[in-house]
Amino acid sequence: MEIGFEIVEVGSVVNEPYEGGGKLSMHMHAVPLAETAAERGSVRPMVRFRNIRKSFGELEVLKGVDLDILPGEKVAVIGPSGSGKTTLGRLLMTLEEPTSGTIEVDGEYLWHMEKRGKLVRADEKHLHRMRSKIGMVFQHFNLFPHMTILRNVTEAPIRVLRMRRNEAERLALEMLDKVGLADKRDNYPSQLSGGEKQRVAIARALVMKPQVMIFDEVTSALDPELVGEVLAVIKEIAADGKMTMLLITHEMEFARDVADRVIFIADGRIVEQGPPSRIFTQPESERLQSFLGRFRAYRAGR
Ligand SMILES: Nc1ncnc2c1ncn2[C@@H]1O[C@H](COP(=O)(O)OP(=O)(O)O)[C@@H](O)[C@H]1O
Ligand SMILES: [Mg+2]
Repeated sequence: MEIGFEIVEVGSVVNEPYEGGGKLSMHMHAVPLAETAAERGSVRPMVRFRNIRKSFGELEVLKGVDLDILPGEKVAVIGPSGSGKTTLGRLLMTLEEPTSGTIEVDGEYLWHMEKRGKLVRADEKHLHRMRSKIGMVFQHFNLFPHMTILRNVTEAPIRVLRMRRNEAERLALEMLDKVGLADKRDNYPSQLSGGEKQRVAIARALVMKPQVMIFDEVTSALDPELVGEVLAVIKEIAADGKMTMLLITHEMEFARDVADRVIFIADGRIVEQGPPSRIFTQPESERLQSFLGRFRAYRAGR
C-alpha cells in the first residue's frame, strides 16, 4: 500500500471557532493515502486506533495497530489464539491502557485528553464519560447469581447512569424483548441455559445504549446447540444497522454473514483485511491462508 504524509486534524479542538481563544492543534500522522482520500469530506470514523502498542511486562501483545471503524460498520476480527484480539477489545473498553498510541471514539480521545493543545493522560472523569459510549459482551457472561434477570439488566443504568428504576425497567424489558427473554424477567440466572444467559448479557450491554459494541467470542463457552440462538440475536442487532460493532469471533460463517469487513490479526498485527467475500475466498497472505486452511481442516474433522 502506498503511504503518504498528510496533516490530519484530530479531536474536537480543531473545530472550535478560533476567536474563542481556543488553541488550534494539529497532529502529524503518517496515514495511508487511500484512507484519507476516502475520509476527506465524508464520515468521521467512530473508532480510530492509531499505532496502538500494548505490552504485558516483556511480552508485546499488540505491535502497532492502525484501524478505523466507520459509524455503523460491523468489523469482524479473526486470528489465532493469543494473537491479541481480546486485548484490542479490552483497550477499547478501557479495561487495559495502551502502552503507546491513541484511540479515538466518536471524534474524542479515549485514553487521552487535550489540554492547551497537548495530549495528556485522561483523568477518571474523562474515562467515565467515554466509557459510556462503549459496551462489551464477553465469553463468560458473569451475571449476578442472586439477582433476577430484570435486576441484572437494570443494575448498570440505575447505578452508573442514575436512571430512575421505572425508566430502567422499561428500557430493560425492551432489551430483554429484543433478545427474546422478556418472559424470563423474574427468573434467576441458574434457571437459564447458557445461551439464554448470554442473551441476557447482551441485553445488559444494550440497555446502556452504547455507540460501539464489542462482542468477544461470545459463543465459545457455549454448548454447540446453543450457539445458533446467540448468533441469531447478534445478527438481528447488526441488521438494525445503526450500531458500530467489533465482532471478535472464530465463527467464520457468522463473520461472513454479518461483517462489512474482516480483520485478520496474527502476532499482534493486522496482517490482512477486506470484505468477507474476498477474505474467505481469496486470502492473499500465507498466514491467513494457513489459518483458514487449519480452520477448515478442523471443521471437516468435527
Ligand atoms: N493481563 C495480562 N497479563 C499478561 N499477559 C496477558 C494479559 N492479557 C493477555 N495476555 C497475553 O497476551 C497475549 C494475547 O492475548 P489475547 O489478547 O487474549 O489474545 P486472543 O484474544 O487473540 O486469544 C497472550 O499471550 C496472553 O497470554
Ligand atoms: Mg480472546
